[in-house]
Amino acid sequence: MASEPGIETAAADLRRRLAGRLEEDGWLRSPTWRAAVEAVPRHVFLPRFYRESDTPGVTTWEPVAREAVGQEEWLRLVYTDETWTTQFDGRDADWRDPKPVSNAAPTSSSTMPSLVVRMLEDLDVHEGMNVLEVGTGTGYSTALMCHRLGSEAVMSIETDEGVARRAREALSRSGYTPHLVVADGRAGHLDGAPYDRLIATCGFRNIPLAWLDQVLPGGVILTTLRGWMRSLGLVKLIVTGDSASGWFSEDDPSFMIARQQDAPESLGMIPGPDDGTERKATYGPDILTSSGPAFMTQLAMPDARFFSMPVDGGPDSTFVLDSGTDSFAVLTPTDNGWQVRQGGPRRLWDAAESAVATWEEYGSPSTAAFGVTVSHEAQVVWLGNPNGPQWPLPS
Ligand SMILES: C[S@@+](CC[C@H](N)C(=O)[O-])C[C@H]1O[C@@H](n2cnc3c(N)ncnc32)[C@H](O)[C@@H]1O
Repeated sequence: MASEPGIETAAADLRRRLAGRLEEDGWLRSPTWRAAVEAVPRHVFLPRFYRESDTPGVTTWEPVAREAVGQEEWLRLVYTDETWTTQFDGRDADWRDPKPVSNAAPTSSSTMPSLVVRMLEDLDVHEGMNVLEVGTGTGYSTALMCHRLGSEAVMSIETDEGVARRAREALSRSGYTPHLVVADGRAGHLDGAPYDRLIATCGFRNIPLAWLDQVLPGGVILTTLRGWMRSLGLVKLIVTGDSASGWFSEDDPSFMIARQQDAPESLGMIPGPDDGTERKATYGPDILTSSGPAFMTQLAMPDARFFSMPVDGGPDSTFVLDSGTDSFAVLTPTDNGWQVRQGGPRRLWDAAESAVATWEEYGSPSTAAFGVTVSHEAQVVWLGNPNGPQWPLPS
């Protein structure tokens, strides 16, 4: 095994190459962020992680560590443009005897560098600004910001104590000393406020109001919004006094949902065969999964989830269940389309179909045609402009 100086030389070379690729692909746009990518040793933040196995069947993740796969392979993987998961189900692995993981949900990771730097570029920071980061994770993105703005200017919040401890160690080994807080980032951190910029690297169902109060007027809040069915995407809000407003990006990058906002375990009551009222459906269940319509159905049914299963030995029906209100919609195929049966206080499929119809009327736009306005009174996603068609974010 090579000596530590050997590692540093090889890692520096891999970093230069990674930075070159990120620049070629258009993610890295400024020399200052390129310098940060070339300087921050991602391998110090990723001594151990998991990679998804390509074996067919149940999704399985295999442990990767320098000791197990060899230094060269470990370093090569660290400096690829991949998200590497570091924790599942909020539990830390026993790395003395790591095992493959399946049937588990990732709860911490080092986000793929292209997404990290793209968000940092979008954040539009300048010398002398301070930043609040929500979701320290491994600390890699925190370190990039420390390199760019100075450690004093960076406050980072992580909800998981073990994750935060490892990030602190890696940051200090790399020579960075940002302010680190173990807490629920939805409350922001009043002690360091006001902030010029706020960046979140986990997804939220709505914009926490504390962020509005802690970011300066003219400041930026950059976060992903997401629901229990899918991500809504990345939104960049400009704060103006006691409200904030801004647009979604063209694509819909996805982050793991904030721990405190994960979907409840129970999907809710499965309706009986005679429950609810039936009608012919205009759209079938494919609107739940095809890109634009799925964005609309997530907006229209913020508390719902769905699954498909055969009923009475027949073809698959799709069950859409809202565990909050015990509302349901069941879609069953017919000879010439779909039949929907709905019940409970919310007509879920009516709301979903109306949202998709509006989207079609407006020419099936991409997510970049949508924006968000938040204030202490209301949080809405709008189409076209702040006075266009609106859908509330869950409170
Ligand atoms: C995708 S990872 C962060 C990636 C990180 N920025 C990096 O570069 O390594 C998301 C992190 O958000 C943390 N998290 C989840 N909910 C949170 C919350 N409410 N407040 C603060 N951190 C949270 C998770 O524990 C996880 O470590």
